[in-house]
Amino acid sequence: MQGLYKYLEGSSSTLEIDIYTKASMVAMSHSVEKVVKEYGLFADIYVLFQDYKYFLYERERYLEFDQLCRQVFIFAENIPKDASRDFENTTFVELEAASPLLEEWAVTVIHPDYSAVLATKEIPGLQRINKENYRTFEGFLSLDSEIAADSAAYYQKLLAQKEINYLDRDWQPAELKNQKPEFQKLISLFINDSLFELEDKLRSLEEKEMRLDEMVKDNKELSRETMQKLCEAGEFRDEDSLFHILRIGFTSALMYRELGADKKSIENIFFASLLHDLGKIGIPDSILQKPGKLNAEEYEVMQNHPEIGAKILAGSHSEVLNMAYNIAYSHHEKWDGSGYPQGLKGEEIPVEARIVALADVFDALSSKRVYKDAFSREKCVEIVSSERNQHFQGEILDILLKHLDEVYAFRRDLKVFSEGKTTREISDYFFSVDFSIFEFLKMREMINS
Ligand code: C2E
Ligand code: SIN
Ligand code: SIN
Ligand code: FE
Repeated sequence: MQGLYKYLEGSSSTLEIDIYTKASMVAMSHSVEKVVKEYGLFADIYVLFQDYKYFLYERERYLEFDQLCRQVFIFAENIPKDASRDFENTTFVELEAASPLLEEWAVTVIHPDYSAVLATKEIPGLQRINKENYRTFEGFLSLDSEIAADSAAYYQKLLAQKEINYLDRDWQPAELKNQKPEFQKLISLFINDSLFELEDKLRSLEEKEMRLDEMVKDNKELSRETMQKLCEAGEFRDEDSLFHILRIGFTSALMYRELGADKKSIENIFFASLLHDLGKIGIPDSILQKPGKLNAEEYEVMQNHPEIGAKILAGSHSEVLNMAYNIAYSHHEKWDGSGYPQGLKGEEIPVEARIVALADVFDALSSKRVYKDAFSREKCVEIVSSERNQHFQGEILDILLKHLDEVYAFRRDLKVFSEGKTTREISDYFFSVDFSIFEFLKMREMINS
């Protein structure tokens, strides 16, 4: 059985098909029914509701129609067993999951002096923040009594198929007269009033939504900018240190993804990990840039950097900065408890810090430093593997080793990407609101699979 809208559209050539927004649909369906109430008409009403939840918004109104009308039919999906409680003249008809009527929104009112059919089919829609208000429908509103009779016949056939009993009619479609002119006038008056009111409401809603969109975007821009400034203050005076933190960010995001973190957390660890060495701000360059090995005293000073970073990042309301705090504070802790500054052990160390600890060390090993040359991939693997369950949690180590190709591929991509660009340009790219670590992770995933 085809849908009501298609059935009626096929049976009459005089229908004016239009596109309606949800607001117009509410206005028109309410107006069509309001005539019944205004004149106390002993009418039949058939309504297609898609899902029963939509009917619930209207239940109070339909309790009135139930008393007023000869009979009311509510067609919907997900009708609960006790739906008809409190109703006397209303029949609830459950639609099957595959029914074409589930895509339609329709109201038919039929009475010897008045009839109206609003029949529409939903246009699968624009996805916006507030989707409900942007639903659109294709269809028509007709006050033609023959269309109403066709519509009633359609529903009766459906009821017969489903073997649903309903009251015997005490008047027949043949008795239908032409529309009384005052009904026609009234209905357009109602529609205008109600549309005006609804479009007004919709406008203010739309404005609110736009403001919210902007605020979210502003906020994101602001927080990315803040992180960029912090990173610039702490780390990347030069391209190498920018590359270092970006690789750590990428590697950490990748590991966190493999540990099953949700999207928000993955994005957070990418940005939060970039700040892991923020505390190096407070370490003299004479130590940071020393070409050779640090002596015990210098190394002691160096070991203050996690606490300095943590002090700067403490007490934030932002989720990502709180994560950055944990990472800055604990990225030199070791799984076996022999790290600094607090000597935390095992799961006492926040998981983000356990991840970044490994990403940081692996990147330090595989890169040139003022105090050391870059080690080969094999050598790096050998060093970190020897630290299983000592410096690094075994489970996290395994994830890194499994995805090492991806980590090295990112290294190469980053180099290629950065050719001919200034440090500022590269930094602006990764901290722009449009940058998405998921695009990066996804791209790599597709390349590797
Ligand atoms: P970083 O250079 O980013 O190194 C981070 C971590 O990677 C180090 O933390 C260490 O755990 C590991 N790592 C780096 N190079 C090696 C290596 O050759 N062998 C092994 N097994 N592990 C390595 P750590 O030791 O707490 O050092 C923190 C920071 O202190 C380093 O960050 C670096 O900025 C500075 N630093 C450490 N040792 C020296 C040094 O001998 N000379 C200078 N100039 N700076 C050093
Ligand atoms: C509503 O959106 O208020 C009901 C319309 C429908 O049946 O989808
Ligand atoms: C970089 O230039 O730091 C990234 C490339 C690499 O070290 O292999
Ligand atoms: Fe560090």
